[in-house]
Amino acid sequence: MEKLINAARLAQHNSHAPYSKYKVGAAVLTENDTIISGCNVESSSYGLTCCAERVALYSAISMGHSKFKALAVITKNGGTPCGACRQVIWDLCGNIPIYIVDANGKIGETTSQILLPNAFDENLLG
Ligand code: THU
Repeated sequence: MEKLINAARLAQHNSHAPYSKYKVGAAVLTENDTIISGCNVESSSYGLTCCAERVALYSAISMGHSKFKALAVITKNGGTPCGACRQVIWDLCGNIPIYIVDANGKIGETTSQILLPNAFDENLLG
């Protein structure tokens, strides 16, 4: 968990958030204990911004990983993943522990299921 959180913290330093100034770092732990991180990347066309959680997960997928065991997210004030990221986390990770960290190092633990109860997912697609 410490390594995962450190990776998220390092990624947070790379955050490209000139508009919101809200720097987010995320890191995902794969089935084979590889850690892949991401930061939020903002666009001047705000809606094109991509959250740190999705950057980390999409990077991991693009590197060939497909099973994930845990996710860490760090912000200055312990912000939790947005709704869009909750859906993507559920789709790609299922129910995993999620560590929410703030700038003081305070760690909260939750799960994807707690963050997105009664999720829509592939099972409903038939
Ligand atoms: N952000 C994330 O990276 N993850 C979230 O789950 C919430 C929001 C980013 C998007 C934007 O760059 C900034 O935080 C403010 O919304």
